[in-house]
Amino acid sequence: MRILVIGSGAREHALVWKLVQSQRVTQVYAAPGNPGMLPYAECVPLGATQYQELATFAEQQHIDLTIVGPEVPLVDGIVDIFQQRGLATFGPNAAGAALEGSKAFAKEVLTAAGIPTAQHHTFTSATAAFTYLEEHGAPVVVKADGNAAGKGAIVALDMATAHDAVKQMLVERVFGAAGDSVVIEDYLQGDEIGATAICHGTHYLPLTLSQDHKRAHDGDEGLNTGGMGVFAPLSFVPPEQETSIWRTIIAATLQALKQRGILFTGVLYSNIMLTERGPMVLEHNTRFGDPETQAFMLLMREDLLNVLNFAEVMPVKQETLWHPGSAVSLTLASGGYPGTYRTGIPISGIEDANQLEGVQVFHAGTTLRDGQLVTAGGRVLSVVARGATLPEAVQKVYEAVKYIHFEGMHYRKDIAKRDLHIK
Ligand code: AMP
Ligand code: GLY
Repeated sequence: MRILVIGSGAREHALVWKLVQSQRVTQVYAAPGNPGMLPYAECVPLGATQYQELATFAEQQHIDLTIVGPEVPLVDGIVDIFQQRGLATFGPNAAGAALEGSKAFAKEVLTAAGIPTAQHHTFTSATAAFTYLEEHGAPVVVKADGNAAGKGAIVALDMATAHDAVKQMLVERVFGAAGDSVVIEDYLQGDEIGATAICHGTHYLPLTLSQDHKRAHDGDEGLNTGGMGVFAPLSFVPPEQETSIWRTIIAATLQALKQRGILFTGVLYSNIMLTERGPMVLEHNTRFGDPETQAFMLLMREDLLNVLNFAEVMPVKQETLWHPGSAVSLTLASGGYPGTYRTGIPISGIEDANQLEGVQVFHAGTTLRDGQLVTAGGRVLSVVARGATLPEAVQKVYEAVKYIHFEGMHYRKDIAKRDLHIK
């Protein structure tokens, strides 16, 4: 099979890395891809939002399957465009991706289906939002309805922050159209986890639970980021609770979508808070997580194509889906990230780190400048290790990092502490 992967981050690098190990895959293209993929994929100079050009490329190159990484093309309807041209894709159409693209739509689906989520109200008028805040008080979470590149949710522990968030979104319009409407929801406390499933209509294959580390610094301090590291599976979640999450959140969401005439195909990756009142959905994502996918691809034993097509190549058994043990991904970020940072800084040591058994380094924000690999983004590399146990995976990942260097590099030193019981 000839596969096209759309996207340029470490998530897409990990997907490409895994796909080329499949016996059924003869050629992988990535658009636009990244330098880390060059040893095994052909990078095509087309951006992830050049939909018609990408479809033309897929036609001309007789691509059998296009896998879409990021959310923006999905929300924009790349799958609908490809389908209209008779091209096979993996990912939801625009109607399905609205579950991620519109927080108000997601809340409507969740509430109608009785899936636990934070109480919320949607506002398009700043005056109405301010009045609600006065009545409700803090803490709350203020969210831009549309896609704001991961920066659209502001956790406001006090009124001043809440007021400011509403002002930024509805008055100053810092998120543009994404902030045309704003969701204000109750603040939930607990352990935040991810649940990822591959879905075909109402059929789904549960992958695994995982935990991301969203804040920039150790001890969950600092600003929210795109994700500083992930570990999977989770031993702190009891098996009964996990089973209940698949049934009452994932299956129930797919059913609720079907009732609206939406047959959801692709990844459903739900962000869940384990509260005292039970698991509650923070948000639904309709694509693979980043850096979740990097850890998943190292942990996955089954051919990824079989996993994506599980509905046709049944049965994909949980026992053969994964290697035993745990996987950890760790983000190496530019100095200053998630604030401003410099780019173009030389990177060294990746080859040495890759020599370690069970370690794989995926590129997140890199580029080649005169043959030298340099930084090109906030999240630069995603270092992943698999171990027979979680402590072994954690130890390996930090061992691998010792080989890698770029000026200003920073990373979390406390990945997986929730399951390692490090205080
Ligand atoms: P979102 O963009 O909705 O995923 O929110 C980004 C982050 O904000 C989440 O990963 C949580 O850490 C935090 N967050 C979102 N909603 C809530 C909530 N209702 N209560 C507490 N934290 C939240
Ligand atoms: N790991 C967070 C995300 O992919 O949204």
